[in-house]
Amino acid sequence: MKKPIYLDNHATTPCDPHVIDAMLPYFSENFGNASSRQHRYGWDADAAVEHARSIIASSLKTATSSVIFTSGATESNNLVLKGICEALEGERNEIVTCATEHSSVLDVCRALEKKGFVLRYVPVDGTGLVNADALCALLSPRTALVSIMTANNEVGTLAPLKEIGLVCRQSGVRFHTDAAQAYGKIPLDMQEMNLDILSLSAHKLYGPKGVGALVLGPSVRRSILAPQQHGGGHESHLRAGTLNVPGIVGFGKAAEIAQSSMTNEADQIAKLRDRLQEELLTAGDAIVNGNTSQRLSNNLNIRFAGVPASSLIARLKKEVAFSSASACSTADPSAPAASHVLLALGLSAGAALSSVRFGLGRFTTEEDVVSAAAAILSAVRTLRRDSREGVFVSPSSTTMTEPA
Ligand SMILES: Cc1ncc(COP(=O)(O)O)c(C=O)c1O
Repeated sequence: MKKPIYLDNHATTPCDPHVIDAMLPYFSENFGNASSRQHRYGWDADAAVEHARSIIASSLKTATSSVIFTSGATESNNLVLKGICEALEGERNEIVTCATEHSSVLDVCRALEKKGFVLRYVPVDGTGLVNADALCALLSPRTALVSIMTANNEVGTLAPLKEIGLVCRQSGVRFHTDAAQAYGKIPLDMQEMNLDILSLSAHKLYGPKGVGALVLGPSVRRSILAPQQHGGGHESHLRAGTLNVPGIVGFGKAAEIAQSSMTNEADQIAKLRDRLQEELLTAGDAIVNGNTSQRLSNNLNIRFAGVPASSLIARLKKEVAFSSASACSTADPSAPAASHVLLALGLSAGAALSSVRFGLGRFTTEEDVVSAAAAILSAVRTLRRDSREGVFVSPSSTTMTEPA
């Protein structure tokens, strides 16, 4: 059976075949534990891990020792926020972040708030842009950490990292950025962009799932971070646990490919995205969410007035795989909750619930875009017609029923 066209590359990306090839030997002949220091199996595994570490570090123009491997960006965000707050408790008790962050930052911040930390949210404009001056006004000698994502995972809006980094540096505050969506898609030079700490995830850049990194720039003393996992001296005593050697090798390979192909790939993907955007805007009563100039090249978040995202996704489930900008509430999956990101941008709940996110990627073709656009436009027209005629479309199935 033909699979739907994949346009959900913000959720995850397929593993690049070169990445898979690089990983395979580390499941079989090179299966060693990178911490086994007394024999060849361990040395080979360790050499492969260090090679991956040096690729990732050099892509960020930082020292190899800066890279701490983790299980992904969620863990990295947990480690940096909890680790720094724990280390500085009593000295500094404020965190500056933003309402549009990923839940792996926001939920950790809320957990820290319960322990007595004070959260300060920088406002965003209607496109999701953070203003560095507004952020500056929130900094104080009590600020433990500023955490602002590099690129938003729903609307793709890019933060003015360099300006934020400068403001933080001038105030003596550490700046962390969750770069899960941006790493490998835009150049990130830690020194030049005044970045102290980064969270990365391999599966967003055509690498494997379950591996990521926390990158601590030279301006960050190791002692500033209290480890959150104990059980061995791995990763400079900051993250205990046997290293995921095949995953790390794959992450390194994915980073290497991204470094060499980033510029061309971003241009090519942006052209396809722009084409999809143009086509979809012909539906009429359609608006692009987010910032159309400061945006990830692969992102399109769009709302079609009068078309519930859940109905559109359900109608197209056999043709196109994409997602709503809203997360279904786990308590009641039949009642979708409006996206916290879109609400923070000032959209009404109704507008947020009519918004959908497309994420293009390395393997998206022109044919994919043309076919997907045609299918989406046709579904939007049908749903609008049905709604005018009073036909109710169940979001959980494409079964048509009369409203009760
Ligand atoms: C911005 C952002 N941060 C963090 C994460 C979590 O990454 P991981 O799946 O590696 O834990 C994601 C994944 O959706 C993301 O988009």
